[in-house]
Amino acid sequence: MSAKLLHQAIVGTMPLVPRPIIWRFSRRYIAGTHLADACETVCELNAEGSTATIDVLGEDSTDDEQVEAALDLYFEALHEIHSASLQSGISVKLSELGLRYDFERCESAMEALLAEAAKYGAFVRIDMEDSTVTTDTLQLYSKARETYDRVGVAIQSCLRRSEDDIIQLLGEGQTDVRLCKGIYLEPEEISYRDADEIRESYNRILDLLLEDATARVGIATHDPLLVQYAIEALERYGTGKDRYEFQMLLGVAGPLRRELLAAGHAVRVYVPFGELWYRYSMRRLRENPNMVGHIIKNLFAGL
Ligand code: FDA
Repeated sequence: MSAKLLHQAIVGTMPLVPRPIIWRFSRRYIAGTHLADACETVCELNAEGSTATIDVLGEDSTDDEQVEAALDLYFEALHEIHSASLQSGISVKLSELGLRYDFERCESAMEALLAEAAKYGAFVRIDMEDSTVTTDTLQLYSKARETYDRVGVAIQSCLRRSEDDIIQLLGEGQTDVRLCKGIYLEPEEISYRDADEIRESYNRILDLLLEDATARVGIATHDPLLVQYAIEALERYGTGKDRYEFQMLLGVAGPLRRELLAAGHAVRVYVPFGELWYRYSMRRLRENPNMVGHIIKNLFAGL
């Protein structure tokens, strides 16, 4: 069996892998289960010169209690970031704030979060989830930036609609976009599947963002080809340091991150924490090219 097929086969059986094993492998991607773990990680990242964005793990809330619990944790995180003078913003998934069960509830939760963050001058990044919520997410982002400056959204280059979305966002005024490939498996009619097509789309969108002098961009990738393209494009457009940063996930591509820092680029690291680590972990493990070997080795380690 080819390595790719074996990888796909293992991905398919991952839900059967016992949680303690998933936890062991996903530990590198997650700061821990408590806010203190995230703050400690951010402190270390700040010491090496990276900034951070703290994510309270959780998604697809189904009732107000879950939304309140997420908000409480975000408020605590904002407070801690401020009181410990950490160089960090926050990242949030709108489905965690109720988007899937009540649009208005989500809108009011987001308003509360943005107002709290504004008290501390903290930046709020809206993560992009699967394509069923893209339109609603962009609508809430557009609404939020009518009132708040320190808010941005993520855009996925795998979606065919994303170039148009970017043109629309740029037309609405100053925008702050985290550009990523996109992690969700989407239907072929609406998404690119081929790795090169996703990269080409990424680069086209990056060009659109860099051409617009009012846009800020978070270049969120660990793909050396995209990083190389971005470095050349930044040079070509003469993009100022205040208009971009590279962004990476905790536990991924540490050497590349340090290379970028050493070359004088700003780098932000996504630092997730919380009890609801399972779904995020499964997405990260699916993307880890070495996962198959690791998991097989572990499954057989105790025999
Ligand atoms: P690619 O997947 O090709 O990875 C390039 C290389 O990076 C791999 O060859 C490997 O060396 C390394 N690598 C990547 N993932 C790894 C892993 N899990 N473990 C070990 N090594 C790994 N997506 C989304 O849909 N919505 C969002 O809001 C966000 N937000 C976000 C924030 C930040 C800061 C980042 C960096 C990424 C996201 N993503 C995201 C995820 C993103 O869409 C994408 O799935 C991953 O970044 C992987 O894509 P790459 O561009 O890194 O390329």
